[in-house]
Amino acid sequence: MSELNAALEHPTYNYKVVRQFAIMTVVWGIVGMLVGVLIAAQLAWPVLNFDLPWTSFGRLRPLHTNSVIFAFGGSALFATSYYVVQRTTQARLISDKLAAFTFWGWQAVIVAAAVTLPLGLTSSKEYAELEWPIDILIAVVWVSYAIVFFGTIVKRKVSHIYVANWFFGGFIVTVAVLHIINSAAMPVDMTKSYSAYAGTVDAMVQWWYGHNAVGFFLTAGFLGMMYYFVPKQAERPVYSYRLSIVHFWTLIAVYIWAGPHHLHYTALPDWAQSLGMVMSIILLAPSWGGMINGMMTLSGAWHKLRTDPILRFMVVSLSFYGMSTFEGPMMSIKTVNALSHYTDWTIGHVHSGALGWVAMISIGSLYHLIPVVFGKNRMYSIELINVHFWMSTIGTVMYIASMWVNGILQGLMWRAYNEDGTLTYTFVESLVASHPGYLVRLAGGAIFFSGMLVMAYNVYMTTRKDVAEQALPAGAAQGSHA
Ligand code: HEM
Ligand code: HEM
Repeated sequence: MSELNAALEHPTYNYKVVRQFAIMTVVWGIVGMLVGVLIAAQLAWPVLNFDLPWTSFGRLRPLHTNSVIFAFGGSALFATSYYVVQRTTQARLISDKLAAFTFWGWQAVIVAAAVTLPLGLTSSKEYAELEWPIDILIAVVWVSYAIVFFGTIVKRKVSHIYVANWFFGGFIVTVAVLHIINSAAMPVDMTKSYSAYAGTVDAMVQWWYGHNAVGFFLTAGFLGMMYYFVPKQAERPVYSYRLSIVHFWTLIAVYIWAGPHHLHYTALPDWAQSLGMVMSIILLAPSWGGMINGMMTLSGAWHKLRTDPILRFMVVSLSFYGMSTFEGPMMSIKTVNALSHYTDWTIGHVHSGALGWVAMISIGSLYHLIPVVFGKNRMYSIELINVHFWMSTIGTVMYIASMWVNGILQGLMWRAYNEDGTLTYTFVESLVASHPGYLVRLAGGAIFFSGMLVMAYNVYMTTRKDVAEQALPAGAAQGSHA
């Protein structure tokens, strides 16, 4: 392995850490989505909880969310940001040792999460469930990440800072602030702590964090990917560089105010709820500005979609980004939220963003980056990328369409009442009506998950040493080989 590493050593850039994070993105994607498939099956057949606390839905659900967001999404963000910052600044990461620390530190956080969450050790804050010692490790790793990233920008060899770095930078700074403020807690012992905030303030801090985890962890960083990999793969410049700068500043200025839409009709003051709603509706504009900028980058290159499944991944991910950022502002309208909240509609919205946008832009970017950092001219099989593309698209559509049907059905059944004021349906009746939707979601999830196995095989074959020896001559275009 060390021989292979030496052979792959790039004269200018640190590709080793990019390779490590890229491989772990695929590994954690498989693990996290497998847990997703299991909990989807548990919702269809509760017997799969096995009557054990460690395998119960309540403990596996946060394991799923943590592993897909922070392990899969996080590794993809580390891999792509380290790759992009080096190539666009033409400088090596400032410290190989610190970069290696961020890799091993982040993996340690993930393993700690995978052990403590099934054991039931949790702070009970959504997307911030990990207990305080792990929170401290996250903070240390994240600050090291910021030093590596911004340090590299400081020693850049080109004066301009390309827009993708602005998005990655905004994501790194904001996540540090969100994590440190929301995780402030009073420890009782090594495995238990209490939040530094109480009551409604605690809820508001939590959803200020939670919504911006969506806005910065699940969006800004992935927009950084979009701004680098879409133009690269399409071999076209960004449609409008000016729009990309407007996109950046408006997105970060507006996102931070939208958190209260998670707390409609709660004890949070009404003005704060309305502010959250208005800011969420305004958020449609920068989100769509960015989506259109990504799409229009393909002007003059649309024909490439016929032969290039990597570009297809990217374009479809942008469509889902546009769709989920249209749906989100609609759901933030209080009267719409009165129907959608607590229902599967929210779950459908989440996965149109998570599978359609986050996972598909990551997968597309990885297919572009992996051959480069492993010294190959192309992925092992373009045909398998195409198979993966269709599995991801079909899986996502099945997931979100079934959840829309379930969500509207549940919302309408729960609010139906008879003339004498009693409820028309019992809760169990709404569950029975939801069952077919749960089966379709499970099938869609299983298809998406199987696509990740196809990717793992393709990546493994690409990284094999003998494939390097058989590589095509430099300049052979990706997508031209089946
Ligand atoms: C094979 C793919 C996947 C399957 C089958 C799956 C399945 C599920 C299920 C069954 C739930 C619980 C729903 C409920 O409580 O009613 C869930 C929640 C969630 N999943 Fe996934 N998931 C998958 C992929 C992903 C990915 C890739 C991400 C993020 C990048 C993600 C993010 C989330 C989040 C944030 C929640 C919590 C939603 C909420 O609280 O409203 N999932 N998932
Ligand atoms: C303009 C952009 C967006 C707006 C205004 C928005 C708005 C909303 C609203 C109103 C909810 C339901 C809150 C509730 O009833 O509790 C929600 C939930 C959620 N959204 Fe979005 N959304 C946007 C984009 C996205 C994207 C792109 C993603 C993923 C990549 C995403 C991930 C989530 C998650 C994970 C939840 C569930 C939170 C929870 O309850 O656990 N959103 N969003």
